[in-house]
Amino acid sequence: MIEFKVGILGAGKIAGVIADTLNKLDAFCPYAIASRDIDRANEFGDTYNIEKRYGSYEELVNDPDVELIYIATPHSHHAEQAKMCINAGKPVLVEKAFTADMESAIEVMKLSEDKNVFCGEAMWIRFLPMYLRLIDIIEKGTIGKVNTITCSLGYDLRKKERVIKPELAGGAMLDLGVYPINLFTMIYNAPPASIGTSCVKLDTGVDAQEILQFNYKNGGSAHAFVTMMFKADNNAVIYGDKGYIEVKNINNPEEIIVYDREKAIADIKPPEKQISGYEYEFIAARDAIITGKFETALMPHKDTINIMTLMDNLRRNWKVK
Ligand SMILES: NC(=O)c1ccc[n+]([C@@H]2O[C@H](COP(=O)([O-])OP(=O)(O)OC[C@H]3O[C@@H](n4cnc5c(N)ncnc54)[C@H](OP(=O)(O)O)[C@@H]3O)[C@@H](O)[C@H]2O)c1
Repeated sequence: MIEFKVGILGAGKIAGVIADTLNKLDAFCPYAIASRDIDRANEFGDTYNIEKRYGSYEELVNDPDVELIYIATPHSHHAEQAKMCINAGKPVLVEKAFTADMESAIEVMKLSEDKNVFCGEAMWIRFLPMYLRLIDIIEKGTIGKVNTITCSLGYDLRKKERVIKPELAGGAMLDLGVYPINLFTMIYNAPPASIGTSCVKLDTGVDAQEILQFNYKNGGSAHAFVTMMFKADNNAVIYGDKGYIEVKNINNPEEIIVYDREKAIADIKPPEKQISGYEYEFIAARDAIITGKFETALMPHKDTINIMTLMDNLRRNWKVK
C-alpha cells in the first residue's frame, strides 16, 4: 500500500502520540523525525519505527519525500517553522495554538495562500466524528435554539516548561482556552459580540486561570473556566430551548448524551475504529493536499485568525507576558 509520508518536527510529548497514531492509521506513516538533537531523533525513531531521523529541522524540510510536515514545538516557534516549510513548498499542519500572536498567524496564512501550499491548524477537535455528530444534532434542531454553553477545561501543567515560560508563549489561554473557544465557534459559527473575563496569573507573568463569558449576536451565550493549575471535570453542557446535550471530556468526547425536556434520547460513543482521535485531522489535511487546497473546510484559515485575534485581545487586556 502506498503510504502518505508525514515528517514530524520536534520530538516532544504530543509528537510521540501522533507518531503512534500514524503507525496505526492505514495509508499513512510517520516517515521522518527531526529534533534539534540527533540522539533524540534516533531515540524517537527507534521508539516509533521511523525510517528517517534528522538532527535539524532544516534537513527535514529539505527531504523531497516528505508530503506533510507536522509541527509539534512550543507555540513561540510555530510561525517561523511554518514559514520555513511553506517557503520550501512543504504542506504543513501546525499544532495549536497556531502561533504566539495574531500578526504572525495572518502572515503565515497569507504566505500559504499566496504560494498555494497547504497550511492548517491541528485543532483536532474540529475533525472528531463525535463533534461532527454533535453539530449535526444541533443543526437538525433536536434541542431547539442554543441558548447557553458551559464548560471547563483544566490540567495540572505547572511543571511543563513551555506552558509556564512567557518566552515560549506559555499560559492557559494559548494552551487550553483555545479549545472552548473553538467549541463555541463550531456551535455559534460566529465570534462573540461582547466579552467578560477574569484572569489569575502565575509569578512568571503568564495566565494561569481564566473565566470567559461570551455573548453572541443571536442572543446565545457561552461560559468557560480554564486552568493550568489542576485537572478539572472537562465537561460541557449545551442548553437549548427544547433540551440539552452533555459532552463528557470536551478535549476528546468519550460520551455525548442528548436530552429532550424530560429524558435522555440519545447516547453517543466514539467510533469503535477510532485510534486516538488525532487521525482525523491528518486524513483531512491529506485530502486537502491531494486536491490542491491550502486549507481544510473544517478548520479554515479565517477561523484560526479570528480565534488568534480574540485570544490576543484577551491576553493584552490581562497584561500577560
Ligand atoms: N493537540 C493536542 O492535543 C496537543 C497536546 C499537547 C500539546 N499540543 C501542542 O503541541 C505543541 C508541543 O507540545 P508538547 O506538549 O508536545 O511539548 P514538549 O513535550 O515540550 O515538546 C516540544 C518539543 O519542541 C521542540 N522545541 C524546539 N524549540 C524548543 C524550545 N526552545 N524549548 C522547548 N522545546 C523546543 C523540542 O523538540 P526537539 O528538542 O526534539 O527539537 C521539544 O521536545 C504545543 O504547541 C502544544 O500546544 C497539542
